[in-house]
Amino acid sequence: MTAAAAQFARDLVLQAAAPYRQAGRYAWHFARGKLGGDPAFAALLAEGLLTGRQRIVDIGCGQGLLTAWLLAAQDASRRGRWPAQWPAAPAPAHIHGIELMQHDVDRADRALAPAVRDGRASFTAGDMCAADFGRADAVVILDVLHYVPIAAQDAVLARVRDALQPGGVLLLRIGDAGAGLPFRISNWVDFVVTTLRGHRLTKLFCRPLAQWQATLAALGFTVQAQPMSDGTPFANVMLVAHLPHAAAGKI
Ligand SMILES: C[S@@+](CC[C@H](N)C(=O)[O-])C[C@H]1O[C@@H](n2cnc3c(N)ncnc32)[C@H](O)[C@@H]1O
Repeated sequence: MTAAAAQFARDLVLQAAAPYRQAGRYAWHFARGKLGGDPAFAALLAEGLLTGRQRIVDIGCGQGLLTAWLLAAQDASRRGRWPAQWPAAPAPAHIHGIELMQHDVDRADRALAPAVRDGRASFTAGDMCAADFGRADAVVILDVLHYVPIAAQDAVLARVRDALQPGGVLLLRIGDAGAGLPFRISNWVDFVVTTLRGHRLTKLFCRPLAQWQATLAALGFTVQAQPMSDGTPFANVMLVAHLPHAAAGKI
């Protein structure tokens, strides 16, 4: 990433986090830390992973940071501020966040109230194992599936596949259980932080990268894996999983 693009991304963190001031000091500080410290957010834009997607569903959305990020990106691009070498900014018609914890949904609703009022965003409290995903052309699941057992993960992935339009994309970030020490560090940090945030966990349900890829391929996705833990001690991988476009003559 060029120095100018890196500076743009830092400015965008401040813009995307600003609405969380209305949701309290914790929400605001958390937004700045997560958006600035997690390489996935800048990479999504720099690599155009959501460019052109109209209906995005964010499963396990937390306090709605992905929505805040995409809205800030769209706004910056409209004002003519966009790195020349990046693909076009995402301009989704609607982003729907689904989140287990009601207090996170409340923060998202409070921070992003204008977009919720305008129908550009919505947040629902619910368990991904039961929630309706609606129809989407992109589904994003960042660091969420491993909280439920493998069979439940597979059921979620099958319902994601069914919710996606032909040509749809799933962005699934996972921890690679085959990655040794960096994986054990991320797993430990995740367990402690998630317990502190009020979840009652007994264990996390992880698998090696090759198993994730095989699971998605069996569901009909074409999968590319991109390391996604730059600047962190973790073993995170972004799986970019595409469904085929509808064959000519088929609906
Ligand atoms: C590590 S956080 C990631 C948040 C967000 N995806 C991000 O990257 O900023 C995991 C989120 O998944 C949520 N979550 C865990 N189990 C869930 C479930 N069964 N259904 C919906 N959300 C869940 C947690 O409450 C938490 O907000």
